[in-house]
Amino acid sequence: MDVQAFAAGLDALFDGDPAQGRPVDPRFEEVAARVTGFTTPAELAVLHSAVGHLPDDEAYLEVGTYKGRSVCGALLDGTERRVVAVENFQEFGMAGAQARQELFDNVEALPSVAPDFRLVDGDCYRVLRDPDAVGSPVGVYFFDGAHTWLAHYLALGVVEHLLADEALVLVDDATWPVVRRATMAYVGRHRGWDVVRAFDAESDHDPRWANGLLLLRFRRPHGAARRIHPDVRAVLAVQRFVVGPAYAAAWKVVPKSELLVRLGKRFYGTRSHRVASR
Ligand SMILES: C[S@@+](CC[C@H](N)C(=O)[O-])C[C@H]1O[C@@H](n2cnc3c(N)ncnc32)[C@H](O)[C@@H]1O
Repeated sequence: MDVQAFAAGLDALFDGDPAQGRPVDPRFEEVAARVTGFTTPAELAVLHSAVGHLPDDEAYLEVGTYKGRSVCGALLDGTERRVVAVENFQEFGMAGAQARQELFDNVEALPSVAPDFRLVDGDCYRVLRDPDAVGSPVGVYFFDGAHTWLAHYLALGVVEHLLADEALVLVDDATWPVVRRATMAYVGRHRGWDVVRAFDAESDHDPRWANGLLLLRFRRPHGAARRIHPDVRAVLAVQRFVVGPAYAAAWKVVPKSELLVRLGKRFYGTRSHRVASR
């Protein structure tokens, strides 16, 4: 994926200043109105453009699809490229079968097709460890899963071995301090990564850029092996055996327990999950 060519076209996607988040193409507003979700029309315009820049042999990978708003925006004009969406239907008290059906209905309602679309129902930290998880080098990766420090550090760590030699990586909610810190910690500790652009939110759930979108480029250093780095393997073990199961248990109980709902609000209401006012 030629990330520079993609980045050069970004401003033209918007009517006026991109910070105002008004896509020229009105269809992204329609997708956001039709499909329940969290990504904004401006974010959808960026994802859609990214898919349009994918070379023939590279794939689009998304983690955190929910009911399909982001993937519907990305695939609005269809694509022959491979598309893989990973979602474990865990958050927001989702009833798995129902949410899955809703996601497929939304993708099927698109005016154009993506014949190589695949939904993987599972935990991204388990799924993406497999070198064959996608089957083609990932040219565009969008992460919109859980938003803890660990989740975001691993979001990059678990995918690096699947990325094409040059790839675009989009991190959602990146204006939140915890997300930015984890992402920049990973980028600072591993070779090949740099920041392309940040579309920052001005307030929480800003209708322009939600909680912010950070665009990264990965270029595999010459001669570097495709592998999960040792530090990531160690953190993955903590996620897999401690944090992941705790999270899963909490989400099962949250809709039923007023106490846990309050604790959840307190956790997500901390400054690390809030856009600082300017
Ligand atoms: C903010 S929502 C995604 C919103 C969606 N991209 C949109 O455009 O509306 C986050 C999603 O990530 C999923 N998720 C969280 N942790 C995950 C994990 N470890 N593996 C796979 N999916 C996960 C949740 O179930 C939830 O549906």
